[in-house]
Amino acid sequence: MKTQDLLHPWDAFQAANRFRRAIRRFRPTPIPEADVRALLREATFAPSSGNMQPYELHWVRTPAVKARLAQACNGQKAAASAADFVVFAASPAIGRRTAQAQLDHVERSTVLGPESKAYHRKQIGMFQRILGTGSSVLWSPWLLLAAWARPTLSLLPVGHIGGRQWAARNAIFAAQTLLLAAAAKGIDSCPMEGFSASAVAKLLGLPRGTVIPLVVALGYRADDARVEDRWRLPLEESVVAH
Ligand SMILES: Cc1cc2nc3c(=O)[nH]c(=O)nc-3n(C[C@H](O)[C@H](O)[C@H](O)COP(=O)(O)O)c2cc1C
Repeated sequence: MKTQDLLHPWDAFQAANRFRRAIRRFRPTPIPEADVRALLREATFAPSSGNMQPYELHWVRTPAVKARLAQACNGQKAAASAADFVVFAASPAIGRRTAQAQLDHVERSTVLGPESKAYHRKQIGMFQRILGTGSSVLWSPWLLLAAWARPTLSLLPVGHIGGRQWAARNAIFAAQTLLLAAAAKGIDSCPMEGFSASAVAKLLGLPRGTVIPLVVALGYRADDARVEDRWRLPLEESVVAH
């Protein structure tokens, strides 16, 4: 490839961002396995709070599980014709697992200097303490009260509800990264929150305490897929300059 053939990163980003649409009807063409793996890999590079990555990406690719997942997505069109699915499952418990793995990585590292190690130990310790509240119901009445008195505190990541919302919020970054990565490869997608969470959790064997912020359907758009002009709020209404 010649240098002049390469798109400037901005042009490449914009092309992927504009290609990405919520597609509800896919062609019956399979996505090469290596391509899906590549998307999953890129999604793992999404940012997360304290790098805690409190989520798992469940790749659903076998016909039997896909059919049952499509049913659990309330028969949505995108789900019925998807080539593959990625289900985002999140929990404070997964975050705690990552915290330990990250700590082991830091302690074993022969590359990180003493200052870096001290920084990471402190940071991970803080998250371990916060995430330690994630399975306790006792914090939740306190959070409800705090959120009522000061609504900006509603997103505190404490207790079993705050911890799950925090985990879900983090998973969404990975989901968006996957959507854009797919678009960059010419693969279409549909993010879906219209599904029976309990049916999906049961199908995938997710442990109690896991939430599912999003199911993503992947495939190649059908020729008759309905793709309308994009409507967005005018910039002046969604951007507040200070
Ligand atoms: C959190 C979330 C949940 C969504 N759930 C569904 C869904 O259940 N079914 C569906 O067809 N589209 C769903 N969408 C897609 C939106 O309808 C779509 O992104 C929006 O209309 C803008 O269109 P565009 O993505 O093509 O730009 C969802 C999108 C997001 C971000």
